[in-house]
Amino acid sequence: MPLINGKAVTAVLLIALLLVILYCYVSQSYRVVLSFQEKSKATEDDTSDPEAFVTRHELHLVSPDHLRYKQPSIVQGRTDVVAVTPWLAPVVWEGTFDSGLLDSIYRPKNITVAATVFAVGKYIMFLKDFLETAEKYFFVGFRVHVYVFTDRPNEVPQVKMAAGRQLTVMPVPSSNRWQEISARRMELIQTLIEKKLRNHTDYIFCLDVDSKFHGRWGTESLGGLVAVIHPGYYRNERSKFPYERRPASRAYVAPGEGDFYYCGGAFGGLLQEVHLLAKTCRQNFEADAKVGIEAAWQEESHLNRYMWINKPSKVLSPEYLWQDFKSKNPEIQIIRFSGVVKNYADIRPN
Ligand SMILES: *[C@@H]1O[C@H](CO)[C@@H](O)[C@H](O)[C@H]1NC(C)=O
Ligand SMILES: *[C@@H]1O[C@H](CO)[C@@H](O)[C@H](O)[C@H]1NC(C)=O
Repeated sequence: MPLINGKAVTAVLLIALLLVILYCYVSQSYRVVLSFQEKSKATEDDTSDPEAFVTRHELHLVSPDHLRYKQPSIVQGRTDVVAVTPWLAPVVWEGTFDSGLLDSIYRPKNITVAATVFAVGKYIMFLKDFLETAEKYFFVGFRVHVYVFTDRPNEVPQVKMAAGRQLTVMPVPSSNRWQEISARRMELIQTLIEKKLRNHTDYIFCLDVDSKFHGRWGTESLGGLVAVIHPGYYRNERSKFPYERRPASRAYVAPGEGDFYYCGGAFGGLLQEVHLLAKTCRQNFEADAKVGIEAAWQEESHLNRYMWINKPSKVLSPEYLWQDFKSKNPEIQIIRFSGVVKNYADIRPN
């Protein structure tokens, strides 16, 4: 008798367990269906919103059928660098991607990539090299629209651009302090996105003009929010990063915090992501200014604070902004973009 009882109890328990599993399964799939419907509804609503941006490009990566390329390995690859962040964003290094494959995925999407540069005051002298090298290396074969902010529109050089590529000059007032020029960049980027780029542009990169391209910078760099690791600090402890260290500043990063030190000289991503970044950094900058604070490295400090909280979805290695005066470290197999050597006394107004 006790044996039969034991069996009966087991059977009842098993049936109960099965029912619970069945219930979970049914309610789970139902929820998935529901949330999917809610999502598509939200997407439809977005398109009627004049504030909406085009988002389709990031979502679906379609490779052409029968495309042949080197077999990817899951056990072999670069071992001298880290190619993923702790929040699982890729870190782009030479040897971690297939440029032909990526171009094949992005070409049918017919994307437009905007680039902003600020050529204020004597910085205009760097523009020609920047533009000429961008023609050779920056998103070659894709639609690129360069926006040049300058107080010297007459000195913008004529550079022959390939089909599908164009340049627009955006006049800005002169400034007596380079810190102020730097500070206003976020505001100008925000306004440019709102007034001109919306509806026409998918991705934007904001780049320093006093730099040149030396190697491919293309579709491998596309992502939601894209940050570039600063070449000057990438081997350092975070305590050495030149973050803003005064708690009163909106750019404050506390000791023991911060992932990497990112460049102010190159960042980008999808239009709506960069819009939010520019708007937030500008607000924080202005709030700081009201209480008389200028962050240690102006917009770069605010950008670093922003990226600490809003993790970039793609991180570009220092290949994407090196400095000409720095000798190449062994892990740098290619320099794609690099700051030219300059004498600040010659070019900065103060
Ligand atoms: C690509 O986009 C541009 C601008 O948005 C448009 O003028 C052009 O017709 C598009 N080309 C194709 C093939 O869809
Ligand atoms: C973008 O499209 C919306 C809706 O069609 C329109 O209201 C808005 O003015 C457009 N913005 C730009 C910058 O073209």
